[in-house]
Amino acid sequence: MNIHVYDRPEQAGQAAALLIAAQLLRKPHSVLGLATGSSPIPIYRSLIVLYQAGVISFDRVVSYNLDEYVGIDPDHVCSYHRFMREQLFDHVNMRPEAIHVPDGKAADLAAAASAYDRAIETAGGIDLQLLGIGRNGHIGFNEPNSHFVGGCHVTDLTASTIEANQRFFDSIDNVPRQAVSLGITPIMRAKTVVLIATGADKAQAVKAAVRGPVDPRVQASILQAHPDAHFMLDQEAAALL
Ligand code: GLP
Repeated sequence: MNIHVYDRPEQAGQAAALLIAAQLLRKPHSVLGLATGSSPIPIYRSLIVLYQAGVISFDRVVSYNLDEYVGIDPDHVCSYHRFMREQLFDHVNMRPEAIHVPDGKAADLAAAASAYDRAIETAGGIDLQLLGIGRNGHIGFNEPNSHFVGGCHVTDLTASTIEANQRFFDSIDNVPRQAVSLGITPIMRAKTVVLIATGADKAQAVKAAVRGPVDPRVQASILQAHPDAHFMLDQEAAALL
């Protein structure tokens, strides 16, 4: 694990964006695994700046997002489809057909999840997987569990995740109780993993992921076994290391 600590969240975001930019310079047709949540927003902002400056291009990039809420329309203000459009896709030259986000409204969620796994494999796997981390150590929506789930799957959200994510919704009652999430297998098969964590409320999860045992109750701890994982942290998130 490579731990990078910066004074401010924006710097962690800029540094993560540079890793992604370097990936695109090395391999313009990279398969990117993308993440939502507030932590990656500075990364997307920096990538847009690099794109507008003509430094990087997304014209050959293929992307697979990590997760989506079950039952939420892609145009819903809190959907991860919409988040990605607003934070990145509407501002860069991604080809619409190269963008993939799990379908939380599929009639057969399990079949759609299996098809998502197969599509990633057919694309050659993920070159660089971007991750945030939940306060309970989740990555994507791989919630604390007695084991690591390999494939894309439907999952019940924990009370802690529902509470943490209520800030995006009108009320806690409107937070979906389930999500579709990429499993641990494609994340671990990604050639490079870049995880961003900022703020004091992530310090405990970061400590458990980095210093604790590899334990499915802290799903991010599996990244200790990844050969090229980068944790991009600000001082607050790194405070307990
Ligand atoms: C959600 C997402 C995760 C994300 C986490 C942290 O639960 N499914 O992918 O990492 O939130 O979000 P934030 O960065 O807003 O703290």
